[in-house]
Amino acid sequence: MGQVKVLDHPLIQHKLTHIRDHRTGTKVFRELVDEVATLMAFEISRDLPLEAITIQTPVAEAKAYQLSGKKLGVIPILRAGLGMVDGILNLIPHAKVGHIGLYRDPETLQPVEYYSKMPSDINERELIVVDPMLATGGSASAALTMLKEKGAVNIKLMCLIAAPEGVKQIQEDHPDVDIYLAALDERLNEKGYIVPGLGDAGDRLFGTK
Ligand code: PRP
Ligand code: URA
Repeated sequence: MGQVKVLDHPLIQHKLTHIRDHRTGTKVFRELVDEVATLMAFEISRDLPLEAITIQTPVAEAKAYQLSGKKLGVIPILRAGLGMVDGILNLIPHAKVGHIGLYRDPETLQPVEYYSKMPSDINERELIVVDPMLATGGSASAALTMLKEKGAVNIKLMCLIAAPEGVKQIQEDHPDVDIYLAALDERLNEKGYIVPGLGDAGDRLFGTK
């Protein structure tokens, strides 16, 4: 079964508090999501493999290290996942970005796909699927299934806040995928919102409500 890691770095937790706060407006909300995405990417990239190389400094020859292994891909689930992309690219600027357009039908809570555009070599990349919210897990699970159908084999899921219901869904549907969170909240409410959560991530990011 995939692991669930709550990234409890103090800076992530402090910024998440402001993201959750209903008084935080769109501009600051967007800036904080961007910053937390960078911090989470820093933690997630801790295990990336390195290889030793030899370089010449202005002073002497030196044994040094560079990233080796597979290249990375960042896959935001539209639209709220977009808010986390730049923060990751700040750290990993050469990552390719693939987009999956999904929205959650407000009545059925089922994910509906409306867009997909992937790098051609996703089967060779380590992919980080990003979405601020993992609620029922329907959207993220559908995105992971779609990526696997296109050949992806190495995928991590990174969300700001999850409900236990969403984590369970991903673990059942995609036991090969590790989940990285800034917080694991209590539950879903009757409308499928995470409690206490942060409200509607897409609306708060883009000012659409
Ligand atoms: C939100 C969120 C996730 C999804 C989570 O997107 O960004 O994609 O809901 O819910 P789930 O786990 O129950 O599927 P939404 O459907 O509101 O679309 P948006 O990003 O375009 O606002
Ligand atoms: N989508 C959101 O944006 N927020 C939630 O709490 C649940 C799903």
